[in-house]
Amino acid sequence: MKNIFSVKDKVVLITGATRGLGFHLAQGFAQAGALVVVNGTRQEGVEEAVTALSKENPSVRGFRFNVTDREAVVQAVETIEKECGPIDVLVNNAGIHRRAPLEEMSLPDWDAVITTNLTSVFVTAQAVAKHMIHRKTGTIINITSLNAEMARPSIANYCAAKGGLKMLTKSMATEWGKYGIRTNAIGPGYFETDLTKVLQDDKEFDSWVKKEVPLARWGRPEELVGAAIFLASGAASYINGHTIYVDGGWQACL
Ligand SMILES: NC(=O)c1ccc[n+]([C@@H]2O[C@H](COP(=O)([O-])OP(=O)(O)OC[C@H]3O[C@@H](n4cnc5c(N)ncnc54)[C@H](O)[C@@H]3O)[C@@H](O)[C@H]2O)c1
Repeated sequence: MKNIFSVKDKVVLITGATRGLGFHLAQGFAQAGALVVVNGTRQEGVEEAVTALSKENPSVRGFRFNVTDREAVVQAVETIEKECGPIDVLVNNAGIHRRAPLEEMSLPDWDAVITTNLTSVFVTAQAVAKHMIHRKTGTIINITSLNAEMARPSIANYCAAKGGLKMLTKSMATEWGKYGIRTNAIGPGYFETDLTKVLQDDKEFDSWVKKEVPLARWGRPEELVGAAIFLASGAASYINGHTIYVDGGWQACL
């Protein structure tokens, strides 16, 4: 029987893949036989990730660029297309936090999160979509968050960016569907990564997560892989503009 979930030999570019969820997504795609291109801001981090992932699949490549630098993104996408082949799947994963009470949040902290978590997705997707539009095929997966739906104190910049990204996902689906490009999002709940280390270390927050999530635990980074491979594969060929929440059932209960 044909494997409708196959992503074998697809060229998959994942931003912010040197650690955390991005790294585990890269590992999952590499194990599934895709040609994975990992991105990060530090050359050393990119090289370490490529070395680790090459054990799964020798065709892993790495490109250092900052997703907030439009010129660097456009140049990197051109190079990747030439050196690695046509990008079949783009995973916009890079993201940051700058936490502060809303009334005290500085403009630089607001701007940094909006630029990295929202504007960079517009910039990267536009650069890649140019090629996908020409080829009339491609898949884009944006990593949003539970915070695209629900706010928490001290992360207004992050909630605004992820809420915006949810709608940017729908806009991409609306405008680029006619070119054979499917755009969807994955909204993780609380996962154990560097980004949430401060929350994992906070005993009160940790027990709050375990009490509120129906599965009664944090997500493990590798648990995002299934949704990403599904959305990237032919099994999701008519799914466009959707967000899959991978949140242990958080949104199912009040
Ligand atoms: N961890 C969670 O619980 C959680 C929950 C919901 C959503 N998310 C989202 O998942 C994504 C990954 O988060 P994570 O927890 O793995 O975070 P992380 O901090 O562990 O990793 C983030 C990655 O993004 C990279 N990055 C940051 N800024 C960049 C830039 N300007 N250019 C290129 N790369 C950049 C970092 O180098 C790193 O590799 C983010 O978009 C985050 O908002 C995470």
